[in-house]
Amino acid sequence: MKKVAILISGSGSNMVTLAQSMTGDHPARACVVLSNRPDAGGLAKAAALGIPTVVVDHKDYKGDRAAFDAAVMKALAPYDPDVVALAGFMRILTPEFIAHFAGKMLNIHPSLLPKYKGLHTHQRAIDAGDEAAGCSVHEVTAELDGGPILAQGRVAVLAGDTADALAARVLPLEHKLYPETLRRFVSGDRTRIDV
Ligand code: GRF
Repeated sequence: MKKVAILISGSGSNMVTLAQSMTGDHPARACVVLSNRPDAGGLAKAAALGIPTVVVDHKDYKGDRAAFDAAVMKALAPYDPDVVALAGFMRILTPEFIAHFAGKMLNIHPSLLPKYKGLHTHQRAIDAGDEAAGCSVHEVTAELDGGPILAQGRVAVLAGDTADALAARVLPLEHKLYPETLRRFVSGDRTRIDV
């Protein structure tokens, strides 16, 4: 049985759908949920699902990214994850952390990569007059939001869309795409899926 660590910073809706997908004949289970924020809403949701939770508060490391990342690696070590799934984890990881989990780390990003790496992705798509937006599941490499894309989901940008409205339309697609992609990934299948 493969073990999946899920890293969050906020509400953890993607974490919940990932954790809930890993049941029955699924080859993996969520082994731990880690947050860099002690007030992340997802921590209570993980606990309610019976998943061990850990907090490594980035404020305790005062901008020392390497020290924070080392603390996260140390906190994850006892759970010995085969896969690390970033799910709304709003931290830029050091090359050392990425190397430590090379080939084992996924992220979901709310844009049709390679467009709109970084933040405010939906507003940028609206401002650019794009007809489509969406989300991408990709392997995490040293290039921010730049790793091999494993899945993409598209939605139409509608006239009058606000960033919030577009985000609300993309989120359910994230909740569908990420679990499906994680299941393929843990089974060694890196075939790209576009929906
Ligand atoms: C999602 O929009 C995801 O694409 C982005 O951050 C948000 C996380 O939401 N990475 P949640 O914490 O999973 O609800």
